Order: sequence, then C-alpha cells, then structure tokens
Amino acid sequence: MKFLDAEFVKGFQRMAFDGWEQGWHERNGGNLTYRVKPEEVEEVKENFEPREWAPIGTSVPKLAGEYFLTTGSGKYMRNIYIKAEETFGMIEVDDKGENYRTVWGLKGARPTSELPSHLMNHEVKKEVTNGRYRVIYHCHPTNTIALTFVLPLSDEVFTRELWEMATECPVVFPDGIGVVPWMVPGGRDIAVATSKLMRKYDVAIWAHHGMFAAGEDFDLTFGLMHTVEKSAEILVKVLSMSDHKAQTITPDDFRHLAKDFHVTLPERFLYEKKSSKIVYDPSEIQ
Ligand code: 13P
Ligand code: ZN
Repeated sequence: MKFLDAEFVKGFQRMAFDGWEQGWHERNGGNLTYRVKPEEVEEVKENFEPREWAPIGTSVPKLAGEYFLTTGSGKYMRNIYIKAEETFGMIEVDDKGENYRTVWGLKGARPTSELPSHLMNHEVKKEVTNGRYRVIYHCHPTNTIALTFVLPLSDEVFTRELWEMATECPVVFPDGIGVVPWMVPGGRDIAVATSKLMRKYDVAIWAHHGMFAAGEDFDLTFGLMHTVEKSAEILVKVLSMSDHKAQTITPDDFRHLAKDFHVTLPERFLYEKKSSKIVYDPSEIQ
C-alpha cells in the first residue's frame, strides 16, 4: 500500500489540519505524534527507506522498537497535505530507546524539536493505560495561553475554573489538568516535568506557551484539546465582562454530576471558594 493511502496516515493528517483550521498552529507552532500499531507498520513497510540513527535527546526504554508518525521541526501544519513528505514522517526507535531513525518522509527535515516531550509522554501513557493511548498532541491555543497570564499556575485552579465553564468538562477530563510553569521548550527538562503530570492527567498546560493532550485515538485526543480550549474561551469571555461570577456550578453540583455520569472527581478540585472573584489568590482556597 502507498504510504499516504493508509487510514492511520490519513487520520494523522486530518487531525493536524483540523488544528490548523482552529488557529492553533501559527507558523510551525505545535506538533503531533502517533504510536503506530504493529499491523499498521506492516501495511506500509514496503515504502521504508531507513536513514541513519540519531539521538532522541532522552531515554525511553519502554518504547524500544516502536514506530511513530511525527510532524517535522519547523514545519507548518497547514502544509500537511500539500507537502506531506516534507512536513511529517515515520520514525523507528532503537532497541534501547536512545536513538531514532527516519524510515519514511521528513525530507530535508528532522522530527519535531519536542520529540523528547512527545516520547516521554508516550512512554508514560503506554505504561499507565496498558498500551491503549497512542496519540500525543501539542498546540498553541489562544485562550488557554491567555489564562496562564491571569490565573494562578496550579493544577487545582485551572481544573476547577475550566470545569465550571462547561458542564461537559468534568465528564471529558475527570482526572483534571496539570500545569507546567514557564520552562525552556524543546529539551529533556520540560519533557520530564510534562511526563510526570501525564502520569495523572491527559492534559498538561505549558504556561505562556501552549498545551499537550494525550489520548487513545485521533478523535478523542482532538476532542479533548477542543473541549479544554472551548472552555478556556468561555472563561476569557466571562473575565472580559466581569471579574466576578454571578452564579456558577457549585462543588455539590459537581458531586451530583459525578454520580449520574459515573465519573470520579477528585475532591481536591472541589474546594470551597472564599469569594466569587474569578482571579483569586491561591491562598483563598480553603
Ligand atoms: P517544532 O516546529 O520543532 O515542532 O516546534 C514547534 C513548537 O511548538 C515548539 O514548542
Ligand atoms: Zn510549542
């Protein structure tokens, strides 16, 4: 089968382009990786032209021998269809989880500079979901980034405020959201910090930069990103009208919702607030 005819490749391209259409990928902003299933590797293997091995920049021993689709560093999501072979490609991880080599595409290009974060997140998610999760997605969504300038950078505050903005949120991301303070992107340190959060959450916000989401397939991962960013957009609109909420979803409302929708909502996100002000000091959390 021709590489670009494979369903998993088409799904990857569609998700990247959907992100571009949402306005989440200015210039080369954002990146996407997919841990390819063994039977999918077989489907496209005849097209492989392996290149030289290169260091990943971190160690991911639990991903030894795995194949990934990845967007290229400096490449634009808006070109994912018209310049497919330059914009993304497939890589193979070596038997130690230290090096990778390109086996298809990425012509004149390297994998995303965030490969250490992507692969460390994949490694954690593969472990904690028994191999179910296959997609890691990073983008630069405007409203979520804007909130990192005004809300305290705490997992509790971001989770609670975003849950309050849309009733579906606690059902879509019941485990909550993690927040990484500003760090230099592209390296191992931010990868370690993010993958630590990915052990408990499916979403990690990078302050003043963007967001990471993890999921089982393209639809669920894109839908998760979309839901969080939509909720952030509502909060930005609310904040632009007032710094107080006249009414909102209360901790007890969330508890009732959890019961009916059969989700477990950690109590640490259901703290009592001392005021109706939206941008409050974390010390106001009782
Ligand atoms: P890449 O072009 O290397 O994928 O980087 C984009 C980005 O968003 C960095 O955080
Ligand atoms: Zn980025």
